[in-house]
Amino acid sequence: MASVVTLPSLGAFAGARVLVTGTTGFKGSWLALWLSELGAEVTGLALPPEGRDSHYAALGLDRVIRQRLVDLRDPGGVAAVVEEARPQYVFHLAAQALVRRSYQDPMATFATNLMGTVHVLEALREQPDLKAAVLITSDKCYRNVEWVWGYRETDALGGKDPYSASKAAAEMAIEAYRASWFSASGAPGLASARAGNVIGGGDWSADRIVPDVMRALAAGQPVELRNPRATRPWQHVLEPLHGYLRLALALASSPRDFAEAWNFGPGEGSAWSVERLARALLASWGGGELKLLPADAAAPHEATLLQLSVAKAGERLGWRPLFDFETAAAETARWYRAAADGVPIPELSRAQLAGYMARLEAR
Ligand SMILES: NC(=O)c1ccc[n+]([C@@H]2O[C@H](COP(=O)([O-])OP(=O)(O)OC[C@H]3O[C@@H](n4cnc5c(N)ncnc54)[C@H](O)[C@@H]3O)[C@@H](O)[C@H]2O)c1
Repeated sequence: MASVVTLPSLGAFAGARVLVTGTTGFKGSWLALWLSELGAEVTGLALPPEGRDSHYAALGLDRVIRQRLVDLRDPGGVAAVVEEARPQYVFHLAAQALVRRSYQDPMATFATNLMGTVHVLEALREQPDLKAAVLITSDKCYRNVEWVWGYRETDALGGKDPYSASKAAAEMAIEAYRASWFSASGAPGLASARAGNVIGGGDWSADRIVPDVMRALAAGQPVELRNPRATRPWQHVLEPLHGYLRLALALASSPRDFAEAWNFGPGEGSAWSVERLARALLASWGGGELKLLPADAAAPHEATLLQLSVAKAGERLGWRPLFDFETAAAETARWYRAAADGVPIPELSRAQLAGYMARLEAR
């Protein structure tokens, strides 16, 4: 086992050609912003933003990065974007990312999350300048046995719902491509990253706890919680993104030592219930009413207990979360409050990012 690595600073991305998929989504928009602020030349691949509110659109990212609106299910389209970008680094985040939607459309979920990932991997085989690819799956890729311990990277994969199973399947495809085409000496490093439930400003997805709470608060309505006792490893969006950036640098410097799966979560013992998150958001927002709904027996299955072990990323990448749970919730609520008060979103997000980077440097 390699020991903790000494990495170049994130400034190493300045001038690098980077492909980010999922740029019109929540995490991808923040990652594209971060890489652009670091001076990288970013190409984005995604579908057009969904709905009226979009962090990508509000940031004006289409003017900052080279954005390509291509469907992952189209292998030729994916290959053309990769060929145009000629990436040195790849961060694959695009996915059908919602558990509930995966029950409504399992075929599209598997086609996007499994075969879309295969299309990206296939296109990367022919990239001469590629140094590192980080492919994002999920904490839900583990076979959930509802235990209280954090899942480790070596635990069994699985998934009872189509979303979780599609992410476990994507992990297996990544493993097969790594063993078959990315393991020779001199080959670029290929790793998968499994993060916990991410919170932060700029998420407007339907059917997710933070946007649901924020929409209700902004409209002055009571916040309804349908699954208040479920626990999740909540973390601020910038935390796993920092992990992905560090992992890419580690892969580039020593591909064979880091080409494997990595967890990025808030750390064992810090998974909290949906109700506790909602109460923390209300406290930071400065008011609001909670309504706990009785459990819906007809609701599709979702895991109740889920935690991640992040010991490996700490030991070997020197990555650790910067925020505790309260700070993550407060930063999140602060973003939505400021946005509701009319602070321009590009200013708001750049300021939060600059604050996070300053805290990273000071640590
Ligand atoms: N948000 C979380 O809490 C969380 C937790 C664990 C893992 N993840 C994973 O992180 C990644 C990013 O999640 P997010 O929260 O930003 O999701 P999101 O739903 O906000 O964004 C998804 C992105 O993928 C793109 N996309 C979806 N289907 C596509 C297709 N067929 N072709 C091309 N692009 C497509 C969308 O256009 C969008 O840009 C996903 O892989 C997700 O599974 C998210």
